[in-house]
Amino acid sequence: MENISGKNAIITGASKGIGKAIAARLAASGVNLVLAARTQSTLDEAVEDLKRNSNVEVIAVSCDVSRLEDLENLVKVSLEKLGRIDILINNAGVSSQYPFEKQPLDDLERLAHTNYLGYVRLTRLVIPHMIENKTGSIINLVSGSVLVEPVPRSFLVYSSLKVGLRAFSKGLFWEMRDHGIKVTAIMPGVTDTDLTGKLDEITAEQKERLISTQSIEDAVMFALKVPQNVCPLELAVINQRTPWAKPVIPFEQKHPK
Ligand SMILES: NC(=O)c1ccc[n+]([C@@H]2O[C@H](COP(=O)([O-])OP(=O)(O)OC[C@H]3O[C@@H](n4cnc5c(N)ncnc54)[C@H](OP(=O)(O)O)[C@@H]3O)[C@@H](O)[C@H]2O)c1
Repeated sequence: MENISGKNAIITGASKGIGKAIAARLAASGVNLVLAARTQSTLDEAVEDLKRNSNVEVIAVSCDVSRLEDLENLVKVSLEKLGRIDILINNAGVSSQYPFEKQPLDDLERLAHTNYLGYVRLTRLVIPHMIENKTGSIINLVSGSVLVEPVPRSFLVYSSLKVGLRAFSKGLFWEMRDHGIKVTAIMPGVTDTDLTGKLDEITAEQKERLISTQSIEDAVMFALKVPQNVCPLELAVINQRTPWAKPVIPFEQKHPK
């Protein structure tokens, strides 16, 4: 297994849920971190937690991944403070569930800019630096919804952007492989975070279909620690009780009026 202690990582969406859990796990393995999210208060809390419980460097950068200038600043600050970027975890994302004909037009734009362009642009900004170093790991948090064909009802735009992200991630692996850069797509099933916490109609039986963030952390650690000449291209981590031939996301979500 590769030793990741002493490496530097950027994690987007690191103040909550899956991103925060990955940050704690990487810090425990000795990885220095740049944490990015929009809300300064929760970002600062996450940094304080990590500093209390680990000895690594932890830097907070307030960043909206849908804004190019914020992404440029994130990379600039990361390089200034840590000198190099070994690992990029693209994770910041928002959920949105609508019957398509009711989905607000600005919601389409928000989703595309956060859940797709946010990943692609940040990768584009970090890649030249990794190519120069002839090494690097990029991990993209995609979604288990891409495993459902057709994509889950009322998740059309969210899921189709994730389908595109999966294709981007896989293609990027082939383009980057000769530069020594690894690219892994992780496809979580419905995970117990704030994102799914908004689904307030979850019954006790449905709650058993949630997976914990620990399983996603385990997948990230596997991707980062496999031998140098191996790259897991895709890791789908779904609940054993996910219904067969039904949407991976078996919940309704209330819409804003
Ligand atoms: N939970 C699931 O069931 C599940 C399943 C499959 C895939 N995923 C994917 O996993 C990723 C993380 O999901 P999660 O459940 O951990 O979500 P979460 O608990 O809602 O946390 C989302 C994180 O992303 C940040 N964020 C949101 N929009 C952002 C933006 N525009 N710029 C920067 N940061 C932003 C949030 O902080 P701020 O709001 O302060 O910015 C927060 O730190 C997402 O890409 C999601 O699509 C989740």
